[in-house]
Amino acid sequence: MWRFFLAMRADPMTAWSERAYREPYVFLPGGRLIPDLALVTDPALLRLIFLDRVSTYDKGDAVRRRLSAALGDALLIAPEASWRSQRRIVAPMFQSRRVETFISDMTAVAKATLGSFDANRNEVTGIHEAMLGYAYGVIARTAFSSDGVADPLAFSRAIASYFNTLGRVDGATLLNLPRWLPTPGRLMARAPLRLFRREIGAVIARRREKIMRLGADAAPDDLLTRLLTTPDPQTGQRMSDELVYDNTMVFFAAGHETTANTLAWVLFLLSDHPEWDQRVLAEIRSIVGDRDPAEADLDQLIQTRMVIDEALRLYPAAPLIPRMPISDDVLGPLKLRKGAIVFTSPFISQRHRAHWDKPNSFDPERFRPGRREAIDRYVYFPFGAGPRVCIGAAFAIQEIMIALVVWLRRYRFIATEPDRVFPRTAITLSPAGGLPMRLVARD
Ligand code: HEM
Repeated sequence: MWRFFLAMRADPMTAWSERAYREPYVFLPGGRLIPDLALVTDPALLRLIFLDRVSTYDKGDAVRRRLSAALGDALLIAPEASWRSQRRIVAPMFQSRRVETFISDMTAVAKATLGSFDANRNEVTGIHEAMLGYAYGVIARTAFSSDGVADPLAFSRAIASYFNTLGRVDGATLLNLPRWLPTPGRLMARAPLRLFRREIGAVIARRREKIMRLGADAAPDDLLTRLLTTPDPQTGQRMSDELVYDNTMVFFAAGHETTANTLAWVLFLLSDHPEWDQRVLAEIRSIVGDRDPAEADLDQLIQTRMVIDEALRLYPAAPLIPRMPISDDVLGPLKLRKGAIVFTSPFISQRHRAHWDKPNSFDPERFRPGRREAIDRYVYFPFGAGPRVCIGAAFAIQEIMIALVVWLRRYRFIATEPDRVFPRTAITLSPAGGLPMRLVARD
């Protein structure tokens, strides 16, 4: 157990042995300081955790302790009681039809990134950093329109710093350290937390004032206005300023690195598989041509979507999704005590020997329409499952597709050190070393 704990501290994904990829579950009995641990990959048991017994399998204090300093009581981490009303308000904001209204915003940000690629053509670029810049730009623009934080660079650095210190979910998360203990992570997170409060607080206050003065119709139709003005359809109540703050932070926290990492992995996989790069390019040229992408185009980019789905299988941005039973439970063969940590893992389930043919090979054909419907809901779940499934999936897929359309027409992305690319897990799964790539102009 202690060896495992130390391995988890170093990297929460490489800690798991080969056995985890062959067997339906792994169970590690805990001790005085560490709770029992289980990793579950059996689809029938996963269905119980995510759907049938969702009230028993809470997100758990371990994760909440790490994230609540920045995210308060927001949707992403809220316990069931305070989650429902927020979900009723936020989920409709991310339905496909509402997300489509952001196509031109996303295209504008993708073009701005293309401009920075043009300035570095044929040079080596740190692609992970560039993708973080793009995803940050998309969230900032769709959340705040042009009325954003005063210093976007300082803000995006503070987000990265928070999630690398206090917000890092790793082996230490398993220790039940009291909240008041001034751990190095907690001390280092103080400055970013102050900056979040100041910057986001000011943006919300300005917008609230504008809506009061001129009415909601005069305010930009972005995520912030929608958060401030949409009532809970059941109770008619609007969100408090505090919850608006928490959920705005969630958009940055949950929707920024996840999407950036996925895009980086897609570009890496296309670099590694030139035949797929050519197929995706041919599809984009034949369906979108030189135009800006439109809503109807995106549905027709079938092969592009297959590549994204396969990238999310091999490199799911949220590789571990932990849960904690709030009462003792018998989960199939597992007798779990209240407070146990139950890991589910898109990364491991999606490379599991029992469920996938050649699990480690890149093969987007698995997701060809007609074949993908046969994939079990609890074997492939990069966006989670059940009532707490990601609300941002359509948003993220659209954002990734638009970037590929705008960039791949002009550039081929070639990894300069493909053999050294390796995934690193903090909360999200990113390419260690930043993924240096050379951008080669197509013509
Ligand atoms: C490729 C990109 C993304 C991936 C892989 C991803 C993955 C996930 C996963 C696995 C969960 C479930 C976590 C759990 O059950 O504990 C989740 C939840 C969530 N995601 Fe995403 N996400 C992505 C993009 C986004 C975006 C763009 C947003 C919003 C701007 C977003 C907002 C959320 C929220 C608010 C939740 C919590 C939902 C709830 O508890 O009701 N995500 N995401």
